[in-house]
Amino acid sequence: MSLFRTKTVEESIRDTEAEAPEHRLRRELSALDLVVFGVGVIIGTGIFVLTGQVAKDKAGPAVALSFVLAAVVCGLAALCYAEFSSTVPVAGSAYTFSYATLGELPAWIIGWDLILELALAAAVVAVGWSGYAVSLLNTMGIKMPATLAHPPGEAGGVVNVPAILLVLAVTAVLVLGVKISSRVNAVVVAIKVSVVMLVIVAGLFFVKADNYTPFIPPAKSTAEVEGLKAPLMQVLFGISPVSYGWFGVFAAIAVVFFAYIGFDIVATAAEEARRPQRDLPLGLIGSLVITAVLYAAVSLVVVGMQNYSQLSVEAPLADAFKAVGMPAFATIISIGAVAGLTTVVLILLLGQSRVFFAMSRDGLLPDWLSAVHPRFGTPYRSTILMGVLAAAMAGFIPLAALAELVNIGTLFAFLVVSIAVVVLRRTRPELHRAFRAPLVPLVPALSVLACLFVMLNLPLETWLRFLAWMVIGFLIYFAYSRRHSHLGAVHAERTG
Ligand code: ALA
Repeated sequence: MSLFRTKTVEESIRDTEAEAPEHRLRRELSALDLVVFGVGVIIGTGIFVLTGQVAKDKAGPAVALSFVLAAVVCGLAALCYAEFSSTVPVAGSAYTFSYATLGELPAWIIGWDLILELALAAAVVAVGWSGYAVSLLNTMGIKMPATLAHPPGEAGGVVNVPAILLVLAVTAVLVLGVKISSRVNAVVVAIKVSVVMLVIVAGLFFVKADNYTPFIPPAKSTAEVEGLKAPLMQVLFGISPVSYGWFGVFAAIAVVFFAYIGFDIVATAAEEARRPQRDLPLGLIGSLVITAVLYAAVSLVVVGMQNYSQLSVEAPLADAFKAVGMPAFATIISIGAVAGLTTVVLILLLGQSRVFFAMSRDGLLPDWLSAVHPRFGTPYRSTILMGVLAAAMAGFIPLAALAELVNIGTLFAFLVVSIAVVVLRRTRPELHRAFRAPLVPLVPALSVLACLFVMLNLPLETWLRFLAWMVIGFLIYFAYSRRHSHLGAVHAERTG
């Protein structure tokens, strides 16, 4: 049963308050900081890059519908996250929540899963950034050799140098401290939101009604859904895999879901919030609502400007303006994307280092990694370690399939958090909850079903990769973490 030993909520909170000062994070973030944090990480490669690809290959103009449906899935999970983060306001997000409710092994699995989500997502976004950066350099007449701008196996590449440099620079900023990062972030978020508004307002003038018919193109077989690339759901139901139609809209949800990843990261900053009980729910739900409205508007405008079959897959928002003869707008949008994707990498890596911090503080990862820098007040060792790993992935791995892997990991974490909310209501009904999710257990149950549904619409190969990652996690748990767990040591003392 020790696999399911739980760390009580009080133990978690006490750990953060009574800990030796070198392990303590500073409480400096306000509700507004958190919303800016959220929007900063949410708006990124998803809307700037994936919109075009998904409209073209999977959903047609109905991509806007997929964005709205994905927001509903995230909204259900956000209600659960908000309750949990207002009850257990400590670093580590879903990892900490699971430790307090489901037990050590499930918590380890979730922590391991979050490492996959955050490190891989940072790498994915850095590669997207590199694409925009290289194209901007081109506009300025500076040609980057293809060998240094793509990973091996793509467009004659050997290593993606811009992506590596970006991740390393962001890592350095994070080591210097949260307050500096959130200020830098606030400026860049303002630029990014302005660019998105520009697309919506300027783009409206170029929308042609013809481009909206048919809104949901008829289903058909395409190369994009062959073999291991077929969505698991279509395989399970014996449907010969199709793109477009309603199944295409569903498959598109599973990809554009990436565009919302990040609101959950607001919860990983719990320990650094000034008034976590009030500010966290505001931060989570606020940033999700803002981005959902922007995404629906942007995707509707873009598929209205250009026929979906003509959309570009690398820089669809900028290229739609080129297509209607407005290249100056395209340049502004590209600059906004370069600035905007930088903050996404920044916050993904910040969230990652916080999960890592929480896990090593509990002894599940080596202890010395969690020490806080005496001057900067940041867990610098884990930040540097994971930054270097993410940089290596960004330099050498192509992003397309990896984005789907990030999604499955995140959906799994959402699913577990939704279950954990119900468990904690049963096991600890008396705990103070500054925010209570409505209609429990109905809302968490719907959240579980919604996440499962989206996961089933991911390709077979994504499921296989995810399972492989989980098996590695199990091996590490039994080889290292189980024996080094601080909670394990406490329990052993108690039972003598
Ligand atoms: N949601 C973030 C993005 O779209 C991860 O890039």
